[in-house]
Amino acid sequence: MTRSDRSATSQPVDPVPGPGIVPAFTNPRTGRPALRTVSVVGLGSYVPPQILTNADLARMVDTSDDWITSRTGIRERRLASPNEATSDLACEAARRALSSAGLRPQDVDLIIVATITPDMPFPSTACLVQEKLGANRAAAFDVQAACSGYVYALDIASHFISSHTYETVLIIGAEKMSAFIDWTDRNTCVLFGDGAGAAVLQHRPHSHGLITTCLGANGGDARLLELPAGGSARPASPDTLSQRLHFLRMDGKETFRKAVTAMVSAGQEALARAHLTIADIRCIIPHQANHRIMSAVAERLGATPEQVFTNVERYGNTSAASVGIGLDEAVREGRIQTGDYVLLVVFGAGLTWGSALIHW
Ligand code: ACO
Repeated sequence: MTRSDRSATSQPVDPVPGPGIVPAFTNPRTGRPALRTVSVVGLGSYVPPQILTNADLARMVDTSDDWITSRTGIRERRLASPNEATSDLACEAARRALSSAGLRPQDVDLIIVATITPDMPFPSTACLVQEKLGANRAAAFDVQAACSGYVYALDIASHFISSHTYETVLIIGAEKMSAFIDWTDRNTCVLFGDGAGAAVLQHRPHSHGLITTCLGANGGDARLLELPAGGSARPASPDTLSQRLHFLRMDGKETFRKAVTAMVSAGQEALARAHLTIADIRCIIPHQANHRIMSAVAERLGATPEQVFTNVERYGNTSAASVGIGLDEAVREGRIQTGDYVLLVVFGAGLTWGSALIHW
């Protein structure tokens, strides 16, 4: 049964609050706890203005526009300025999402930031965002699921809302990948960019919403994509610095293979749970890593190129921000209309993967 199926037949009854007692929202028909639908009520995204083109990169490392474009589809990416941290990118996307929802920062009950490029190991980037936004009522924490982070955050947020714990949750996927890229390594530096995508989630009676989310992980392949040092296993030292272990490392070929398999099966699982076929989906927003990965995923899902939203040519791989930026742009471009079904499919370090199916 899907999340919206479960709530479609259930209306919460008035709680009976008392000291220390959790309000009991019960479906009067089944006697079971009533879950609520969860709707996206606002979207926003932000990419910094500075553009780094493939031609710029060809002056920095031994590469070419032709190689990057043909292997990845990326033509340019955005770079945050030195005094702009991940929390700043996140705040700008969040302000836009709140404004599109017609809400104020003080209306937010919970902020979840998905990032692998936090401002610092602690406090969480979500707490820094809470302060910068002035969302002083909100609880705040980070989620770390690399490029899958936005869908992980969406899944977590939906449970808080459907269970009546919170009314308004702000999720943000935000990354300053440029701070963790080895700009002398042509294998990785051409792939990534900076940016942020945000969504405001609420229960809106009689509205469409999230149908299902599927999450997966395989820590057995953790070494395929990692930032080896700077944590408790290998604390920063002159040795880790000289070995350049504070930058992202990746086995690109193997990551590519695993990404296609995992994204396809996550997409298929979401469709099966919702009793939908790929033809029912108006817009598929895959994690924007590489046009060849997206084409392979679309082909194996049986989707047409017209169903697939891409912006990788302009932003590169923005990790946890990727599908958040894509969703915001797809809605603003009119690619998604009320009543459409939207499928997000993601994959990232961990390894992690996931999908989310939304009835818009
Ligand atoms: N410019 C020119 N040549 C390059 C470059 C470059 N920027 N990068 C690598 N090459 C060279 C390699 O050195 C290699 O040369 P060699 O044959 O002399 O050894 C050659 O190009 C071919 O390299 P391959 O690895 O075979 O290239 P491939 O076709 O696999 O493409 C790529 C590489 C684009 C990295 C691809 O493997 C890929 O997209 N992988 C997935 C990456 C990804 O999506 N990562 C993010 C996952 S999500 C997250 O959490 C961050």
